[in-house]
Amino acid sequence: MKFFVDTADTDAIAELNDLGMVDGVTTNPSLIFKSGRDIKEVTKQICDMVSGPVSAETVALDADGMIAEGRELAKIADNITIKVPLTWAGLKACKVLSGEGRMVNVTLCFSANQALLAAKAGATFISPFIGRLDDLNLDGMDLIEEIRTIYDNYDFETEILAASIRSVNHMKEAALIGADVATAPPNVIKAMANHALTDKGLDAFLKDWEKTGQKIL
Ligand code: E4P
Repeated sequence: MKFFVDTADTDAIAELNDLGMVDGVTTNPSLIFKSGRDIKEVTKQICDMVSGPVSAETVALDADGMIAEGRELAKIADNITIKVPLTWAGLKACKVLSGEGRMVNVTLCFSANQALLAAKAGATFISPFIGRLDDLNLDGMDLIEEIRTIYDNYDFETEILAASIRSVNHMKEAALIGADVATAPPNVIKAMANHALTDKGLDAFLKDWEKTGQKIL
């Protein structure tokens, strides 16, 4: 499973990128707002750091507006993926932009039928939002499973990009189901390294080591 980082925080991206943990980046208008930076300037900096796809989201509501904004965002760098919402207008924009050979990420997907439409419209990525379904007491992972089955049934090439990930369990479950990509905030990716037994074991080893009175260096 590829790891995308769901942030516009360039310091956080750099730290994970140095470890080889960043296969791509996703941003959205809320994350750009949170960064406090200009969308083109911060997206360019991210694209210079990361060689994989970097999603930048359109904000127009009509297809022509999304297409124009998508073409403008695509000028930032070759690895820009244009993010459009899963609306009828977004599907039209997806069809046109993917037809021009551009990468398109169709976002705000909450149903298997929406994902089926996005694949038929030529989406490079479909972004089902797990956490926001969980927030409504639904199981976001069921959606990932359904889309995986449908895409495999018909050999769709659209990649499933599990989004709105809130926990390390989401990461594990997305990988078990076979999501192609998971996009997660930096703190969730870093938390995957944590285990209480690792900390406990390390503590015991260090206590015993101290008793030996030895030094390695
Ligand atoms: C995905 O591309 C979105 O940017 C993101 O995953 C949304 O996550 P949230 O529901 O935690 O805001």
